[in-house]
Amino acid sequence: MRIGILTGGGDCPGLNAVIRAVVRRSTECGDEVVGFRDGWRGVLEDDAVLLDLAAVRGLLPRGGTVLGTSRTNPYALEGGPDRVRATLARRGIDALVPVGGEDTLGVAARLADGGLRVVGVPKTIDNDLDATDYTFGFDTAVGVAMEAIDRLHTTGDSHHRTLVVEVMGRHAGWIALHAGMAGGANVVLIPERPFDVDAVVAHCLHRFESGYSPIVVVSEGARPADGDLVTSTGQTDAFGHVRLGGVGAALAAVLEERTGREARAVVLGHVQRGGTPSAFDRVLATRFGLAAVEAVRAGQSGVMVALRGTDVVPVPIAEATARLKLVPVERYAEAEVFFG
Ligand code: F6P
Repeated sequence: MRIGILTGGGDCPGLNAVIRAVVRRSTECGDEVVGFRDGWRGVLEDDAVLLDLAAVRGLLPRGGTVLGTSRTNPYALEGGPDRVRATLARRGIDALVPVGGEDTLGVAARLADGGLRVVGVPKTIDNDLDATDYTFGFDTAVGVAMEAIDRLHTTGDSHHRTLVVEVMGRHAGWIALHAGMAGGANVVLIPERPFDVDAVVAHCLHRFESGYSPIVVVSEGARPADGDLVTSTGQTDAFGHVRLGGVGAALAAVLEERTGREARAVVLGHVQRGGTPSAFDRVLATRFGLAAVEAVRAGQSGVMVALRGTDVVPVPIAEATARLKLVPVERYAEAEVFFG
């Protein structure tokens, strides 16, 4: 059998661990793996490389993706899906394993509906895919953000200033929630709950009164109850997503004025996505890769491997892409206990 693999969307720690696991397990079974470069672009343009054991040696701890990635959407291009089918037929690919988030897997689901054999692997630092308890990459991103918050506490306290930490997550507040809770933030603002500026000011003042300086963690998609989403450029990608960023600086300016204390914004940005995966992400990514090969070998299609509790199981891709997994009210309420 010949299996194709690609990594699409934003990169994320653990992608190489999936590639390694798919190649290791397939090779053991006597199957071949072809890696397409830069997500769907590589399939559209037939840009691929044969992945053997030597190609995946040393990949487990390496961040990013050796295959490269892109946000190419075959369905946004004239004849795109036909070009995908033609490449796969020409290369004799029996099944495709796309590793990606809602966009990459959305394309995968449509191709599977059209008859292609596809087994998806979920990845995103945002942890917003609905059908899986966790995506790999999230744990690493939270660890990076937590370490930043730990460091910001000491410098903030020394200068008696508010520090606003802007984290990624797009429309889901998981990174902000987990990093804020792990790092002991004094306020956590997420997209799911438009925030009240007066309440944020009150929490900051309360923190200053206790002799310490406030750390405000704000998710890039968070917005005030009476305001709009802040976007960095207004540009959209091939899947129609606006580029977020800037809410941290906007909030810091308001907090400085309203509290009468200096406030600075720190944007963690792509630092959260880069570098070596955590142990949790290496194990999850490896298990996902192994399970994807098992699903292919079992003749499954239109499924995605997912973490349910401690088990990795196949679920319909459509279950993961139908809606985003957002932070529930009760999880935010847990964080709120520590505000101020
Ligand atoms: O989906 C992952 C993610 O890192 C989001 O958290 C963020 O909004 C987006 O990708 C950033 O994308 P880009 O790398 O294209 O700036």
